[in-house]
Amino acid sequence: VTQPTTAGQTARIAVLPGDGIGPEVTAVAVRLLQAAGFRGTFTEHPVGWSEWCARGEALPAATLQACRDADAVLFGAITSKPQAAANAEIVAHLRGTVRYRSPILRLRQELDLYANVRPAAGHGADLVTFRENTEGLYAGHEQRPTTQELARLFPGLEPGPDTAVSLRVITRKGMARICEAAFRFAEANGRRRVTLVEKPNVLRATGGLALEVFREVAARHPAVRADDENIDATCARLATRPQGYDVLVATNLFGDIVSDIAAEVTGGLPLAASANLGDRHALFEPVHGSAPDIAGQGIANPLGAVSAAAMLARHVGQAAVGERLDRAVAALVSERRSLPRDMGGAATTAQVEAALLAQLDGLRAMNAA
Ligand code: NAI
Ligand code: MG
Repeated sequence: VTQPTTAGQTARIAVLPGDGIGPEVTAVAVRLLQAAGFRGTFTEHPVGWSEWCARGEALPAATLQACRDADAVLFGAITSKPQAAANAEIVAHLRGTVRYRSPILRLRQELDLYANVRPAAGHGADLVTFRENTEGLYAGHEQRPTTQELARLFPGLEPGPDTAVSLRVITRKGMARICEAAFRFAEANGRRRVTLVEKPNVLRATGGLALEVFREVAARHPAVRADDENIDATCARLATRPQGYDVLVATNLFGDIVSDIAAEVTGGLPLAASANLGDRHALFEPVHGSAPDIAGQGIANPLGAVSAAAMLARHVGQAAVGERLDRAVAALVSERRSLPRDMGGAATTAQVEAALLAQLDGLRAMNAA
């Protein structure tokens, strides 16, 4: 995973606001970074549904290049719809000439962002999920109707439209790098335990390889405790005792599920943010989508985007800035002050921002005193 930028350096941040509430929440996140003393430059680049509709490319080449050139990417949210809607909503003169491709999936592939990192802290729990992001059950090898050819490979499989197959692909390379990232993170952040969440007793081929590689990587990091659990047991335990976990590592689908449960049991998805990390690039985003139902109303919750900005700051070597932002968010949440509507409060986006800025000022005054 990307080596953090040396402290003191100025970071180049590509901001991709996207659609719906994406621009509303990223604007707040950028202003909060600046108010917290972030050293860096911000450039905005278009991405998403509006780009697709107007120009037939949801991820413009110049935007992709800007992401490659940046030290980190701050992503808002995009609207994404099925192919039929994509064809219907694109500007008439481009209709039928281009195919919609998800800009998020493309960014992950183009920048090789293989690790999806989701912290979840609250209610006494503090865990981080490392989800493999390029293979597993989401590798995209699917078949329906299933063919005779496939049925020959797997005796007992009835080919045709009523049988569907999604291949779960686990590779030594894919598993080694996500496990390595999880253990390195644990060491760098004073965490004591990494747990593999799998199902090797049933998924013998894929789960078996995953466990084998996990144990090999664990042996190279003896200072961190390593263990493994079955996905069903982890989900059950997370629901009642999330405090027992530290760092979780999982293949794509299991990581998807476990990270959502972890976010929910530790305080809900409204605050959740994630990092998408590769060896050379890093992208940070709130977990929520573009929320078209409330876009433009000035009531979007910016706390997820601010948490994403905090992760970004830490990643580029400005841990103190990340700490300030996290503490400002935590203060609002714990005091149940100036909370937005989706968290049971009545504050507008602007009021949440003002409360966060006041909190930063308060922290600064405290530090100066
Ligand atoms: P969503 O997260 O956009 O919205 C779900 C519900 O939560 C809505 O009622 C929305 O108003 C509310 N909500 C979400 N974020 C909020 C915020 N920051 N403040 C206040 N309320 C918030 O998910 P949904 O509705 O399934 O998808 C809407 C669009 O977003 C779709 O086009 C979907 O494809 C896209 N999407 C994009 C993601 C991304 O850019 N990473 C992730 C998830 C969905
Ligand atoms: Mg999910």
